Amino acid sequence: MAERGSLHDAFVDELRDAYDAEKQLLKALPKLAKASTDEELRAAFESHLEETRGQVEKLEQVFGLLDEKVRGKHCDGIAGIIEEGKSVMEEDFDDQTMDACLIASGQRAEHYEMAAYGTLVAWAKALGHEEAAGLLEEILDEEKAADEKLSELAEGGINQAAGQGASGEDEDDESEAPASRTSRKSARKKTAKSRR
Ligand SMILES: [Fe+2]
Repeated sequence: MAERGSLHDAFVDELRDAYDAEKQLLKALPKLAKASTDEELRAAFESHLEETRGQVEKLEQVFGLLDEKVRGKHCDGIAGIIEEGKSVMEEDFDDQTMDACLIASGQRAEHYEMAAYGTLVAWAKALGHEEAAGLLEEILDEEKAADEKLSELAEGGINQAAGQGASGEDEDDESEAPASRTSRKSARKKTAKSRR
């Protein structure tokens, strides 16, 4: 009977999955950046692309620390998320709505990665690989920061600007509080400004 795998095997398997996911994201992030209308959003995707290149290198270091060959294993999870992002980009949405959708796609990827690296950090610690755990934690922190940046952009004007465009359909809806109208207007101005 074949020997049963251990947590070490599961850990290496998960590392290969993460490595492949980063490689897929290296191709997907430039597309998200290109599809962005908001300049800050585009810059956020571009800077995370740079970070992702560094993450690939960090993962290579982790393989080295474990004396394992650098190898990826197709990550179906991120492939599915990227596929969904692609279908959204094919939709005929107005610019602000598209930006809001690109953020949603990006955050799906970030949350998937946060789950993966959270597990990897915990398993590295459980297996006594402190140095590897440190590198994986650095990546985890970068994913969290990228996710927060996207939330900040969404909530700092992009969602409101997109919502403003959508409200054209129910213009006679007077239930909205005046304060919220003002904040939407300023959100729109902010977005317009960031485009210049
Ligand atoms: Fe990543």
